[in-house]
Amino acid sequence: MNTPKRYTITAALPYTNGPVHIGHLAGVYVPADIYARYQRLQGKDVLLICGSDEHGVPITIKAKKEGITPQQVVDKYHEMIKTSFSEFGISFDNYSRTSAKIHHDTASEFFKKLYDDDKFIEETNKQLYDAEANQFLADRFVIGTCPKCGYEESYGDQCENCGTSHNATDLINPKSAITGNTPTLKETKHWFLPLDKYQDWLRSWIVEGHANDWKPNVLGQVKSWLDDGLRPRAVTRDLDWGIPVPVEGGEGKVLYVWFDAPIGYISSTKEWAERTGNNWEPYWKDENTKLLHFIGKDNIVFHCIIFPSMLKAEGSYILPENVPANEFLNLEGNKLSTSKNWAVWLHEYLEDFPDKQDVLRYVLTANAPETKDNDFTWKDFQARNNNELVAIFGNFINRVVVLTQKYYNGLVPAPGQLSEQDEDTLMLLKKYPQIISKSIERYRFREAQTELMNLARLGNKYLADEEPWKVIKQDEERVKTIMFVALQIATGLSILSEPFLPFTSTKLKNILNVSSVKSNVDSPWNDVSKNDTLLKPGHQIGKAELLFTKVEDSEIQKQLDKLTASKKANEISNQSVEPQKETISFDDFTKLDIRIGTILEATKVPKTKKLLQLKVDVGIDVRTIVSGIAESFNPDAIIGQKVSVLTNLAPRTIRGVESQGMILMCDTPDGKLAFVEPDSNVKNGERVS
Ligand code: 2FM
Ligand code: ZN
Repeated sequence: MNTPKRYTITAALPYTNGPVHIGHLAGVYVPADIYARYQRLQGKDVLLICGSDEHGVPITIKAKKEGITPQQVVDKYHEMIKTSFSEFGISFDNYSRTSAKIHHDTASEFFKKLYDDDKFIEETNKQLYDAEANQFLADRFVIGTCPKCGYEESYGDQCENCGTSHNATDLINPKSAITGNTPTLKETKHWFLPLDKYQDWLRSWIVEGHANDWKPNVLGQVKSWLDDGLRPRAVTRDLDWGIPVPVEGGEGKVLYVWFDAPIGYISSTKEWAERTGNNWEPYWKDENTKLLHFIGKDNIVFHCIIFPSMLKAEGSYILPENVPANEFLNLEGNKLSTSKNWAVWLHEYLEDFPDKQDVLRYVLTANAPETKDNDFTWKDFQARNNNELVAIFGNFINRVVVLTQKYYNGLVPAPGQLSEQDEDTLMLLKKYPQIISKSIERYRFREAQTELMNLARLGNKYLADEEPWKVIKQDEERVKTIMFVALQIATGLSILSEPFLPFTSTKLKNILNVSSVKSNVDSPWNDVSKNDTLLKPGHQIGKAELLFTKVEDSEIQKQLDKLTASKKANEISNQSVEPQKETISFDDFTKLDIRIGTILEATKVPKTKKLLQLKVDVGIDVRTIVSGIAESFNPDAIIGQKVSVLTNLAPRTIRGVESQGMILMCDTPDGKLAFVEPDSNVKNGERVS
C-alpha cells in the first residue's frame, strides 16, 4: 500500500465491569494514542476510535455480585473510564458505548445482512445448561479444563492461560460459575459463523500477505489457530443481557459479545460522524484508509480471525492493515488482576499524581510489553522520573530557558559563525524526526521514546561541552550562537515529544511561546527536519517553569503500602475457613480444662524438625509439654510467652518424653503457627471458659 492519508485507529473497547488499570494502558491505549498523535502531526487524517464494551457475561456476573442491574454496572464504569481516559490525555476522536442505540442498530443490521446473505449456519444442538440457575452456560458462566493446554480454570469461550478460543462444550470437566454444579446438556438453536470457510483466505491474507509487517507474536498465534483448523463458531447466546438477535427464532437470545463488540468500532465512528457532520464510510470502506487495531494479546483471535471473517462475509468493509497486539504487563512481579485488586488503577493514579500523567505514560512506554511480558515497579517509576525526565529532559530545558532569560531577557539571539560542533548538532537534530518515525511506523514505541530522550541527551551534552555559563565571561558573541543552537533543540523537543508526552509538549511550547508559530512545510513533524531555523532570532520566549518534579520516597512508599494492603486482604479472603465440627454438649465443653500459662523453658527435641520440649507454668504446677511448633518459633524467643494450655488432656509420650498437656495454637495465612494468648494482666492458672 502507498503511504495512506487516512487512518482509522481502534483501541480495544474496555469491559465496563471495573476501572482501567496500567496493564490496559501499557498494552493498548498509550501505544494507540502515541500512534494517532504521531500520524496527526504528520498531517494525516486520523480517527482514534474507542468506547465501552458493555455486554457480555462478566458484566452480568458483576451485577449479580453487587445486587444491582447490569445497566447500573455499565453506567458507573463507563463514566469512570471515559473521564479517566480524557484526564490522562488519550486523544480519542470518539468514545462511545455498546449500549448506545446507534450501536444496537449497527450491530443488528450487520447481523441481519449476514443472515439475509446466508452467511450463517443455523443449528440446534446441545449446550451446557445449569438447571438450578435456569441458565445456559456460555462464556464466563462456565469454567473447566482447557482441551488444549490442560489449564483447569479456562472459561467457556477462551482459555486465559494459552489464549485458545473454544466452544463451551469443548471444556473438560465443566462447572457452572453460578452454582458450581456440573452442567447438563440441553438443546437450543444458535447461529454459527462457519470460520472453516474462511480458513484458506485467512492464511493467504495474513500468513502469506503479512509475513513481514505483522508482529511475530500475532503471526505466531494466527498460524497456530489455522494449523489446528478453524470450526464454525456460535455468534448468538441464550442470555438476557446484550443485543437481541434480530431474526425470526431469535427471541430470548442475544448476539455473542465478541460479535457485537468489534462492530462497536464502526458504530463509534458513525457516532463521531453524526456529531461532527462528517461521513463515516470512507473510514471503513475506502481502500486508501489504513485500518489498525491496537489490542492486548488475549484479543488476537477476535481481531485477526473472527472480526476479519465477519467483515469479509459482509463484503463492503476494508480489512485491518495491521493488528499490533502487545503482551501483558505485570505489577511488582505478579500478574495484574482486577478481582484481586492487584493493580494501579488509572483513576486512583490521577488522584495521587494529578499533574504527572506524562510520567506514567513515559514509564509505561519505557517498559512496554511489546515483545514479551514486562514488569512495572514503583521503584522504576521513581527512578525513571527522577533520573531521566527530571535529570535529562527537564534539566536541559530549564538551563536553556533560564540562560536565555538571564542573558537576553528571553529574546532568541542571532547566531554568529557556526562551529563544526554547532553544524553537527543541528544536523543531528534534523535527523531525529526520521529516526523516531522509523520506530513508530514499526510499532516500536519503546525504541522511539528512547530516541526522543537521546535528543534531550544531545542537548544536555551540547551545553555541557560548550559551557555557555563560562564562555560568557570571555566571549559574549560566541554564547549567542550556543544559545541559538540549544534553543533549536528545545523547540525540536517540544514538537517531537508530543506523541509521547503531550502535557509536557504543550507546557514546553507555551514556555517557548511557539504555539502560534505556523508550520511552513507540509507538517509540524517535518518542520524539525526541513526547517533550518525552528526558533527565529528576536523571538520572545516565556519564563522558566519546571517541566518535571521529583517523586519522593514517601510517595512511592504510599503506593507500595496500598499494594501490601491488597495482598493482605487477598490472603484473608483466600483463606478457606474450615467447616464447623459436629455439635457437642455443654457438658462436653466443661470437661475441657484450659488454663493460662507461661513458657519457662524451651529446647528442641533432638532429631526432630517440628518438636519443642517446653516447661510451662500453668498455675496448678510446672509441667512438661511437647509441642509441634519448632518450625514457627525459635526456642529462645518464646521464653516468657503467655499461652493457653489444655491441661487435662491424657498424658502422651512423644519421642520418649511424657507430654502433660497441649498448647493451643492457630494457623496463619503464611502457613506458620501463632499462640492463643490472653491480655498481659491475666495470671497463670486462670481458667479459659
Ligand atoms: O478484552 C476486552 O477487554 C474486550 N472488552 C475487548 C473488546 S475489543 C473490541 F472488539 F471491541
Ligand atoms: Zn489453554
